[in-house]
Amino acid sequence: MTAKEPKTIVLTGIKPTGRPHLGNYLGMIEPSLVLAQTHRALFFIADYHALTTIRDPRQLARLVRELAATWLALGLDPQQVIFYRQSAITEIFELMWVLSCETSKGLLNRAHAYKAAVENNRRASQDEDAGIRMGLFNYPLLMAADILVFGADKVPVGVDQQQHVEIARDIAAAFNQVYGQVFTLPSALVNATAVTVTGLDGRKMSKSYGNEIPVLASPEEMHDRVARIVTDSRSTEAPKEPDQCNLFNLYRLFAQQGDIERVRHLYRHGGLSYKSLKEALSTLIVQRFAHARTRYSRLMDNHGQIDRVLVEGAARARAVARETLRRVRKAVGIDA
Ligand code: ADP
Ligand code: TRP
Repeated sequence: MTAKEPKTIVLTGIKPTGRPHLGNYLGMIEPSLVLAQTHRALFFIADYHALTTIRDPRQLARLVRELAATWLALGLDPQQVIFYRQSAITEIFELMWVLSCETSKGLLNRAHAYKAAVENNRRASQDEDAGIRMGLFNYPLLMAADILVFGADKVPVGVDQQQHVEIARDIAAAFNQVYGQVFTLPSALVNATAVTVTGLDGRKMSKSYGNEIPVLASPEEMHDRVARIVTDSRSTEAPKEPDQCNLFNLYRLFAQQGDIERVRHLYRHGGLSYKSLKEALSTLIVQRFAHARTRYSRLMDNHGQIDRVLVEGAARARAVARETLRRVRKAVGIDA
């Protein structure tokens, strides 16, 4: 293995709000696992963030475990990465309060999830904050605390999370302005090659659209899901533009270069059957994650091991978080 860059800290988190899908994997999980080979890395399960959407306690507990098992099955090595649950690091929530005192409300008004919710209300001629809870509004603030408490330099995320990392940076800068150099200014690392992965219907693949393809679906489920990718009704013989086809865009992410060119040719010159391309795609995905699926089943049969890994990770993470809080408390004058 190449020597680590010990000074650069890479940190990222994922919400346990559903089974991880191909967008999560290509946009965030895979690039962060690559970074973990050469950097100090902290990866976590953002379980308190999930409370903004999951309000069923049993479901939340199950999703946390499934996400941990998925991450481990996909190659996260807990010896190499500090892996923990956000909720185990109580310092994050203390820091969130301190940060809120330096955060202008206008900054959070501009965060895209809140802005979109307000926009929806306006369009429906309702009060602009109707149905919006403080968890949604404060979401970027909790994320800033997640990042700043560990002095993270680089935060690998999909493009939709980039704004949140910029907000964290702004909050850190505002705090440092008043209290001196306490926080490292983080920046987002957006994977340039993994653009936004599209879902079954051609929109961004997302749990909230129900258009996702779970990374570790069984071969049968994978086949069913991939079969549901929306294509047009043109005949096999009709020439088509591959780059405008959602099915091709997904195929391209998994196939070998030679096969991609061959299929591209079929699109342009006629002779492509969507059905057979879907079969090829589902086989490629199933093969790509075959080992991970086996590891996942083994882990889910042994909850104890998952729980142990997370507890050990939390102990290591807390040592770092405690040190940051010590400096913060001193800086603001809570501790002399
Ligand atoms: P979802 O939209 O399904 O709820 P999350 O918001 O939990 O996904 O995203 C977890 C991580 O995966 C984030 O870093 C996000 O940017 C990335 N991600 C999510 N969907 C995609 C996608 N379709 N393409 C690329 N990256 C994605
Ligand atoms: N908000 C992120 C998402 O929806 C998850 C997350 C929470 C996160 N805290 C974080 C990501 C800190 C990076 C750093 O995907």
